[in-house]
Amino acid sequence: MFPHGKSVYNGGMPTPTDSTAQLIADINRLREERHAVILAHNYQDPEVQDIADYVGDSLELSIKSANLPEPEVIVFCGVDFMAETAKLLAPEKLVLIPDPEAGCPMADMVTPEALRQLKAEHPVAPVVCYVNSSAAVKAECDITCTSANAVQVVNSLQADEVIFVPDQCLGAWVQRHISTRMILWPGFCPTHNLILPDHIRSQRLAHPQAEVMVHPECTAAVIDLADHVVSTGGMVRVARESAAQEFIVATEEGMLHRLRKENPEKGFYHVAPVAMCPNMKKNTLEKILWSLQDLHYAVEVPAEVADRARRAIQRMISVS
Ligand code: 13P
Ligand code: SF4
Repeated sequence: MFPHGKSVYNGGMPTPTDSTAQLIADINRLREERHAVILAHNYQDPEVQDIADYVGDSLELSIKSANLPEPEVIVFCGVDFMAETAKLLAPEKLVLIPDPEAGCPMADMVTPEALRQLKAEHPVAPVVCYVNSSAAVKAECDITCTSANAVQVVNSLQADEVIFVPDQCLGAWVQRHISTRMILWPGFCPTHNLILPDHIRSQRLAHPQAEVMVHPECTAAVIDLADHVVSTGGMVRVARESAAQEFIVATEEGMLHRLRKENPEKGFYHVAPVAMCPNMKKNTLEKILWSLQDLHYAVEVPAEVADRARRAIQRMISVS
């Protein structure tokens, strides 16, 4: 039917709007049939955020997973460590991730074996583990943290020194606020690392009235240029509460959708198009539908690490 080669086809195709509406209707029908709830991180594509029951940062979504009373199925639209955290906190529920390839390169930068080696070199230092890590790494630590509570968590330990894995940028930012010596793992977020001080400077020139919000996974040189250093949930709060009418947003591009949707009268400028996390973009409406249809891909955490990892996450929640 369709000619091949360099022809122009102008015939009747279903419009994307038709097929998107159908996908959403099918997702809604299955969500009800399966007693499922859809959680989405703030970096998900707009259409994924828009169909989610809850959108939030890592900490908010962890707490939400722990406190969901009714649904039997959680479809987690984020990256694998987030879905794993949900499974640890809601072990009796079926936690699905629409694309099992949605990983976090920063989380892959530390292994339990390498962490055990560092612990042997600093036997009295407690270990604080950023939630962007595998369950096996979390099982090796005393407490987890997110970018929303990292300073609070490290302070709660009242230690002279702590081992902090895997994000050196978040760790260095925490170090600015506390006297505890931070032993930093050399991990980093490849997406936030692409944000440069010059991106902030040129956005400031273009939008001189704007306040600059920076995620603490950015480098120290970028953080130095910020008005607010905040988690993605913190960005939502700053945008709502600040008297400023314009904001430069130095984090992953998905963040802009929620900020614009919740504050239609304010202006938001993404710092630079390079700040895009390809893993966060792997979940799509089609994959969410397939996930609900086939009940895949189920997240499982090996029993030998689950209890210890859960304890570290619950300890974080209790100090947050
Ligand atoms: P938040 O905890 O701020 O949502 O960040 C998670 C993350 O992966 C940032 O890259
Ligand atoms: Fe991991 Fe960075 Fe992507 Fe967040 S933005 S999921 S830290 S790679």
